[in-house]
Amino acid sequence: MPKTIEFNPLSNEHTTNPYPLYDELRDHAPIIVDSLMGFYMVSRYDDVREVIKNTKVFSSRAMGPELIASTLPGISEDPRFLTQNIVGCDPPEHTRLRRLVSAVFTSRRIAKFEEEVRVVTNQLLDEAETSGRFDFIEDLAGPLPVVVISKMLGLDPDRWRDLKRWSDDVIEGTAGDPFNMDVDRIQASMQAQFNYFRSVIDERQAEAKDDLISELLRAHSEDDKLTLDEVQAFATLLLIAGNETTTNMMGNAMLSLLRHPDQLDALRNDPSLIPAAMEEALRYDTPFKSVMRLTLEDTTLGGVSIAEGSIVMLLLGSANRDPRHFPEPDIFDIRRGSKEHFAFGYGLHYCIGANLARLETRVAFECLLERFGAIRQASKELTYKPSLVLRALEALPLECR
Ligand code: HEM
Repeated sequence: MPKTIEFNPLSNEHTTNPYPLYDELRDHAPIIVDSLMGFYMVSRYDDVREVIKNTKVFSSRAMGPELIASTLPGISEDPRFLTQNIVGCDPPEHTRLRRLVSAVFTSRRIAKFEEEVRVVTNQLLDEAETSGRFDFIEDLAGPLPVVVISKMLGLDPDRWRDLKRWSDDVIEGTAGDPFNMDVDRIQASMQAQFNYFRSVIDERQAEAKDDLISELLRAHSEDDKLTLDEVQAFATLLLIAGNETTTNMMGNAMLSLLRHPDQLDALRNDPSLIPAAMEEALRYDTPFKSVMRLTLEDTTLGGVSIAEGSIVMLLLGSANRDPRHFPEPDIFDIRRGSKEHFAFGYGLHYCIGANLARLETRVAFECLLERFGAIRQASKELTYKPSLVLRALEALPLECR
């Protein structure tokens, strides 16, 4: 039997700073059943990698149908974007979907959006400057990803507040505090989002445009083609998956830099260091802190027996601070030069939007550093959203000159 220790991963203490608990888990109970959810928590780098690689035993269904069943038992509608989605399925379905969508959501298409990302960033910074107060999350890191992906998909960017609200509600439903959930509100958002995407897809079927939804409708390889439900599921996932995660990446990166002013100065002096700094920020304060898998048969991991049908939670944020893999992992060093972190996952399900998140974050920091000679944290009080999955700052007020 694995060791059981009492801890509440949703407690304020843990969501504010999970790293002392991660240290304890890696050193004393690297595979442990948590007493709150009954999940197997895996905290060491090598164990996380072993699980992700073994897709025959550790199924991604835990990121789809089983996730809905465990976190949203009250939801009656079939939230198709998750039950029929790429992130929640295994080979061979996953291989087929990944091939079809990768042909559309390409690095080239993403790179072509750089100028658009810059324009949106500068508009948001203009608005923040005019208002006289600047919350990094509310004014920049929150809206930027949702406006950008709306434009790419061909949604109405003026409706970004609705799109963000629906997407945030869905994220709360799947990654929030399962003991404290407004299921009616979440269900209403899922339905509204479903209806909106269906209407846009109907329009694009009638008349294609130069956007991702039209491209997905066309997507085919040899004799295979995405179904309408698959197009809707993937388009919706692009909105949801790339939204709050990128916000959190930017927020956590900004905070790490504010806490290491010498490194913020180094970036100002040499903006070519920004991409490396973003990789280090992803490792140091991982925004998507855990992913889940479902065991399809009895198995063992690190000498611990795990029964078929168990949920295994891979603590990416802990693996990224594992001293067995990263020397002096608690030091934030923008020149570390390691890209071996798990912030975007690993293997077959490696994040399809990683290059978009990197592009948005790089451009946001370039624009910010160009515009302001001094950036300071305006309040030392920080609150994080209660979540097993996301490391999400509620707000990050700044003083910028
Ligand atoms: C910093 C921002 C982001 C982080 C930290 C992040 C993190 C992740 C992680 C950890 C996974 C792997 C999940 C697993 O193994 O079960 C993943 C997969 C995925 N991400 Fe991201 N992501 C980010 C941004 C984005 C963006 C911008 C998009 C799209 C617009 C996106 C779309 C996806 C999709 C579609 C998958 C599923 C891929 C598959 O199952 O083959 N992500 N992401």
